[in-house]
Amino acid sequence: MPLVRCTTVAELRAELAVMRRAGRRVALVPTMGALHEGHLRLVDAARRLADEVVVSVFVNPLQFGPREDLARYPRDLERDATLVHDRGASLLFAPTIAEMYPEGATTRVRPGPAAERWEGAVRPGHFEGVLTVVAKLFHLVGPEVAVFGRKDVQQAMLIRRMVADLDFPVEIAVVPTVREADGLALSSRNAYLSPAERTDALALSRGLRAARELWQAGERSAGRLRDAVAGVLASVDGLVPDYIAVVEPGQLAPVATTPAGTVIAIAARVGATRLLDNTILGEDDV
Ligand code: PAJ
Repeated sequence: MPLVRCTTVAELRAELAVMRRAGRRVALVPTMGALHEGHLRLVDAARRLADEVVVSVFVNPLQFGPREDLARYPRDLERDATLVHDRGASLLFAPTIAEMYPEGATTRVRPGPAAERWEGAVRPGHFEGVLTVVAKLFHLVGPEVAVFGRKDVQQAMLIRRMVADLDFPVEIAVVPTVREADGLALSSRNAYLSPAERTDALALSRGLRAARELWQAGERSAGRLRDAVAGVLASVDGLVPDYIAVVEPGQLAPVATTPAGTVIAIAARVGATRLLDNTILGEDDV
């Protein structure tokens, strides 16, 4: 099947109307492009969950802070199109900024208090930007199911919250984090890392692994698991942690003890690049 490519809302609506008339179940995979195997695993999951997969590629200016990497965020739409086509997506929606935010568009989706901690504390307004664009994409595509990655655990949690709170008729599926063989979580921002920084970046997954091993050996103190991660991160000179969060999965509020399902989420800067990683205790491996 050829890949249909749309850049305008009008084209998108016309293409979706054809799918709807044929009674097709639609999945949406929202992305900012510079696609890697992590994104493509979301496409694979989406294909299993629906008849047609719509992938959006839009570097959303609303979710970038004034000192963030909006201008230099990696972009390669032709490569992205080939990759999603090879994985069986049917439609690629890659709008311009003016198409998504025409002159005068000022309405925003304001997240609840869970958006103020962790990523939200470091990046004020970030999740408002994310929820606003995701709400627009949900309205534009009207998917039965939308697929997100666990790598951005706070984002996935806030999107579930928005869907419940604002009654979006969409199911949210969350796919485990895809990693390189050495443990580094795949990210479009890994492209910024020098070889030396890439080695430093391995401390994120190594720190999470250290905490998991302690937990598997019976340690349940959140403080001691946090210290284990902090110790690994501190052993790398070039790495500056932003936060190490040991939290419950519902609202990502800090916990003192760590039953199965507890999330350890970390963010750290390696040179000029911010990287995220997380693990769910008792679930997957790092
Ligand atoms: P982006 O960073 O491009 O990520 C798109 C989707 O891919 C997100 O759901 C993210 O969690 C998932 N993803 C990224 N790396 C992954 C990995 N290593 N394993 C599994 N999934 C991974 O997240 C965004 O874009 C934006 O905020 C967006 C939701 C598109 C709104 O603009």
